[in-house]
Amino acid sequence: MKNKIDSFKKYKDEYKKSVQNPELFWKKQADQFSWEKKWDAVLKWDFNKADVKWFEGGKLNITTNCIDRHLNKNANKTAIKWIPNNTKEDIININYSQLHKQVCKFSNVLKKNNIKIGDRVCIYMPMVPELVIAVLACARIGAIHSVVFAGFSATSLKDRINDASCSLLITSDGGFRGNKIIPLKNISDEAMKETPSIKKCIVLKRTKTTVNMHKDRDVWWHEEMLGASENFNAKTMDSEDPLFILYTSGSTGKPKGILHTIAGYMVYTAYTFKNVFQYDNEDIYWCTADIGWITGHSYVIYGPLLNAATSVMFEGVPSYPHQGRFWEIIEKEKINIFYTAPTAIRALQAKGTKFVTPFDLKSLKVLGTVGEPINDDAWKWYNKHVGNNMCPIVDSWWQTETGGIMISNLAGVTPSRATYATLPLPGIQPCIVDNKGNEINDSNTKGNLCIKFPWPSIARTIYGDHIRFKDTYFKKFKNKYFTGDGALKDKDGMYKITGRVDDVIIVSGHNLGTAEIESAINQHKNICESAVVEFPHKIKGNGIYAFVISRELPKNLDQQKKEINNLISSNIGPIAKADKIQFVEGLPKTRSGKIMRRILRKIASGKTHSLGDTSTLLDSSIVDKIKSNRE
Ligand code: PRX
Repeated sequence: MKNKIDSFKKYKDEYKKSVQNPELFWKKQADQFSWEKKWDAVLKWDFNKADVKWFEGGKLNITTNCIDRHLNKNANKTAIKWIPNNTKEDIININYSQLHKQVCKFSNVLKKNNIKIGDRVCIYMPMVPELVIAVLACARIGAIHSVVFAGFSATSLKDRINDASCSLLITSDGGFRGNKIIPLKNISDEAMKETPSIKKCIVLKRTKTTVNMHKDRDVWWHEEMLGASENFNAKTMDSEDPLFILYTSGSTGKPKGILHTIAGYMVYTAYTFKNVFQYDNEDIYWCTADIGWITGHSYVIYGPLLNAATSVMFEGVPSYPHQGRFWEIIEKEKINIFYTAPTAIRALQAKGTKFVTPFDLKSLKVLGTVGEPINDDAWKWYNKHVGNNMCPIVDSWWQTETGGIMISNLAGVTPSRATYATLPLPGIQPCIVDNKGNEINDSNTKGNLCIKFPWPSIARTIYGDHIRFKDTYFKKFKNKYFTGDGALKDKDGMYKITGRVDDVIIVSGHNLGTAEIESAINQHKNICESAVVEFPHKIKGNGIYAFVISRELPKNLDQQKKEINNLISSNIGPIAKADKIQFVEGLPKTRSGKIMRRILRKIASGKTHSLGDTSTLLDSSIVDKIKSNRE
């Protein structure tokens, strides 16, 4: 990709151009790709209808751009460098030519298993190269991939499969994570008891765990691949055809199937990867995110491959077999660009520098963070002990819905500032509005973060529920996309993200809806109501605090807490477990019956002396009781 911004002045010029004539700006980016037919119109949009189209009428396949386009010059360059969980197992380097063959082969497997353009394919796999191959094969054949993070429970998997009526599930016998084996096929079997749309299940052998293969439905990956041809002509797709669905939590119980389409997503992820990280052709780039999240989609797979980069993919966890695993990998693989989450940084910081100093991290040029606000202390530690005060840290703010990085410094090009995402990328027009929708231009005043103009990788809908899409993102503030985040701007126009302003909690960088957790808790036979809020957590950023009303006070409190967490685990996944559970007699409610979460948040955070206005409470004595029994 050309058009690299390499100075602050160039950024300012580029930004100006992108706002003055967005269509021309993005057309120039799009021109660099390989198209079977160019588009009829660069952009059509109407935020009132939640309707955005980029490069409509264009014909292309994203995998041609991720792989085939590089085969002339970069056939032997490593595309995916896979690092196994177990240090004794070999690293696998897959070059662009090999990736091409594997993706073509698996596209033929998909075809043989009756997958056609527009079909939904659910992928529930560990971080292994076959996950990338499966994702790209879906895109090559024109099927819509829906990757479900392998930490989710059978119930979550089932709900996601059913929501999109997936006809195929791709999974593996199990997944290695540290010293654990996650029984993915068993979990899938549990889910598939209630997924009538699933016709086939392709199972990769990874952990060699014994699994049941359901006759007529389940087939082995390696057996299917055996005779498959290495040629597969990529399907010609329209720019606005769906590329994938990825579920994210919302304010109400049901997760939202965020849908992204092909061309806009391609153009934007390629552009942002190149510019935010200042990627150079020979850089070894490592993003530690799981492909089950948007960061993995955009910045492990699509963004890097569109730039013919070498993308490192790690199967394991930062603490296995020792707390210095990340730093060891950086030394051994001579990583140049390292992109991770504040939670990981804080967890490793807590273990102390003795795990970092034994390793030579001189190869590092750029550091990145994503997923949640990074606190000043963690930022400084990352800067000093990992970056040796030499590497710019890009604090990249974005969302599943935005598809790519929206507000971030560009490494070494635009200024960085601890705890600030800093400046919008070219093409991005953010603003901060008060609750009435008036733009706030005063510096350091908190408000709601919105975006005024479409960018190519904006989500197009919530799968099967366009009204919810419109209501969630475009209704609250007219003619603007509402992010659900709070933010402020300093006097230099630098953005600081202050956290969610809705009922979504970011725990260890993962979005969790309070309603989803509450409905899991309420399944307990002894619980009649619950309210979940966040509280500051040293490592996870936010912890989960559940206030629960028990029909009768349990004899064994710990046992009931355990049962509650088991319910959360089986309905959502272990990531959503409550850190603290308090049994209460009642919840603070307004006269109209609304739970005042603001008060619960203060109690959970230990700020019990300043609860603010409590005059609208129906029964304020409840608050005193809750306060005195705080966990
Ligand atoms: O609250 C913001 C937070 O993560 C949310 C998006 O979560 P998700 O869709 O899972 O995508 C995460 C990876 C892009 C945002 O609404 N968030 C993300 N990045 C940052 C952040 N908060 C502060 N600073 C960031 N750099």
